[in-house]
Order: sequence, then C-alpha cells, then structure tokens
Amino acid sequence: MTSLKGKIITVVGSGLIGRSWAMVFLSGGYKVKIYDNEPGQASGAITEISRKQLEELQQAKMLRGNLTAAQQLSLLSSHDDLQQALEGAFFVQECVFEDLEAKQTVFHEVENLVTESVILSSSTSCLMPSNVFSCVQNRTRCIISHPVNPPYYVRLVELVPHPETVPAVMDVAYSLMTEVGQAPVRLSKEIDGFALNRVQYAIIAESWRLVQDGVISVKDIDLVMSEGLGMRYAFIGPIETMHLNAPEGKLSKKQSVKTCYLSSL
Ligand code: NAI
Repeated sequence: MTSLKGKIITVVGSGLIGRSWAMVFLSGGYKVKIYDNEPGQASGAITEISRKQLEELQQAKMLRGNLTAAQQLSLLSSHDDLQQALEGAFFVQECVFEDLEAKQTVFHEVENLVTESVILSSSTSCLMPSNVFSCVQNRTRCIISHPVNPPYYVRLVELVPHPETVPAVMDVAYSLMTEVGQAPVRLSKEIDGFALNRVQYAIIAESWRLVQDGVISVKDIDLVMSEGLGMRYAFIGPIETMHLNAPEGKLSKKQSVKTCYLSSL
C-alpha cells in the first residue's frame, strides 16, 4: 500500500488516550486535527502535548519518529468545531468517554459530516463494534483500533472489525498502525474483551482462585508473574513458548496441543 503520510487524521476526544494517539500519529508525519466538545479542552491538549510531552521527550532523546518536536507540533491543530476538525480527514480516531450512547452519537454526527471513504475508528476498550457503530449507515468502513494505555509507549493495537467491515478497511488500519510504529493485531470477528483482556482476565481469574484456595499468597502469585512468566512473555507468546519446548517444534512432531502444553511447564 502507498504511504498515507502527510494525510489528515482527526482525533475526537482529547483526554488521556486522544492526546497519546495524536502524538503517535504526529510521530509518523501525519497532520492531526484534535477535537473535543468541552470548550478549551482541545487547545489545552495541544499545550500539554507541546510543552509537557514532545519537548521533554526530545530533550530526553525519547521522541518517536524522524521529525523534531517543532516539526511534529506544526502538524497539530485543535478545533472546537467538529465539521472543521473533520475537513480533509481520511481517518477518524474516536477517543470519547467509554459510554455507548456517547460513542453512538459521535459516530452518527461524524458520518453526516464526512464522505463515504473516510474510515471511522473507535478506541473503545470493551464495547462491541456492532453496538458502537449501530447508528452508522455505512458500516463497511468501521473498525475498532483498541490501544493499550498509553499508546505512545505501548505499541499493541487490537484491530476489531464490525461484522460488515470490508477487508480493505482492516488493511488500511493495519498499514497506518504499522507505519506509525505501533504493533497491530487483527481479530477476524468481534468478541467480548477482544484478545488482550480475555488473556488478562484468564490470568487474573486463576490468580484469584489460587489465593482464595489458600494455595499461594498474594505476594507470591505476583512474583510468579513478575519474576517468571512475565519475563518470558515480554519476548515470546504462549504458542511460541509451547513450540520451542517441543523437540523439533510443535508441528514437526505432530504433538497434540495438550502434550505441548504439559512439556512447556
Ligand atoms: P478521558 O476521560 O481521559 O477523555 C475523554 C475525552 O472525551 C474528554 O476530553 C471529553 O471532554 C471528551 N468527550 C466526551 N464526549 C465527547 C464528545 N461527544 N465529543 C468530543 N469529545 C468528547 O478518557 P480516555 O481514558 O482518554 O478514554 C477514551 C477512550 O479510550 C475510551 O473509550 C476508553 O475506553 C478507551 N481506552 C482507554 C484506555 C485507558 O487506559 N484510559 C486504554 C485503552 C482504551
């Protein structure tokens, strides 16, 4: 896919996640228009991004991308008017409160102000795409791009399609996220908790169970993760771990998943 650099992305909602998304897109050379329905909030976001974030990051040599802080800031603008904020955008990243009705209203308003080709993307942590986009007429261009807080420092983005989303929209979102240095993963269909939180909840549930059953203390179950599994999982995932624990690899030996799981313990 050809580079989308220099194009405009509108960020709707300028709180914690909206600001961090704005910085991610700026680092990739995109023009970012940030909008908030709370008067003064979007311009306040620019002040914070500028003074407290980009300049400090530059001084600490931790600024992302090839552009200087000043160059990145020159690509950023704030808007109190939604129509103005959406002008020229090819991608809209919604970051308003985690409230279904608020998101439905935002996407309904946005759809009425943009052309058919504009991609509508939500940051929702746990709302299902079929609910978030239920007030949008053309849902083929809708997707969830769920970041991990804060997206500027944690690269994973879960891309979750609406049942009607066309593959090209998933491809554009994937290319965009890759280009700005994030690590996107594709889910093929919507599911409660997406992938990250399903895995996280499984770990939390088992940890609670072990503590509750008197098997291990709170302090020690946390050490199981911080001094054991966590170290490993910072580099390789659970399936790769199983693969590396099987002699000659999991597939070559035609081992069952159960055998591989047991041999990886
Ligand atoms: P926040 O409360 O920091 O910011 C929300 C912003 O949206 C506020 O500035 C508010 O004025 C604005 N807003 C509310 N209604 C609006 C509307 N109709 N139009 C325009 N702006 C509006 O919330 P935060 O933490 O930034 O979360 C945003 C989204 O990101 C939520 O869906 C959340 O679930 C998701 N998310 C949050 C993470 C986190 O750890 N905070 C992690 C990953 C996703």
